Amino acid sequence: MEITQDFERQADEIIAQYPVKRSAAMLIMHMVQERFGYFDDDAIKYVAKKLEVAPVEVYGMLSFYPMFTDKPRGRIHIKVCRTLSCALAGSINFADEISKLADCPVNGTKGVYTIEFVECLGNCVKGINVQVNDKLYESLKPQDAEKFFETIRKADAEGALAPAPMSATPQGEGFDSPAYKG
Ligand code: FES
Repeated sequence: MEITQDFERQADEIIAQYPVKRSAAMLIMHMVQERFGYFDDDAIKYVAKKLEVAPVEVYGMLSFYPMFTDKPRGRIHIKVCRTLSCALAGSINFADEISKLADCPVNGTKGVYTIEFVECLGNCVKGINVQVNDKLYESLKPQDAEKFFETIRKADAEGALAPAPMSATPQGEGFDSPAYKG
């Protein structure tokens, strides 16, 4: 990974907002994930040095939080919920269908795709839930797989699946956020 001066400056600005450097861990981790796509050994060492923690602590966060990865992912990251409500609604079959359409194994990466099973996405009442990069698709049915796949291919072609930059204005505002209104 190549750390640019701009990246370094942004990281320092974030860390400076906290009385203890390690408190900025999640933001710095997100910055690295967003900029480089995954954590290699250099990235782990870089974050550890910036936060003044041991590399094993960075690795602990990396392995605990599913939004971080130590392997490169495809540009289109499809996360299919396999927890009970979504599984009962057919998410396992749904993932298999998407896997065939994308020619990418479930829990693997091929070409521009990464497909993964994940645990509850917090929207159980509207299963099947699938998150693609930052966007949540809900109320899907197993028979929707082909239509869904075309939708995300089109969204990707239009740039609508690009991850939201960390500098973007947050859309949620506590319990007034549309995210809480169901
Ligand atoms: S069980 Fe799928 S979102 Fe909760």
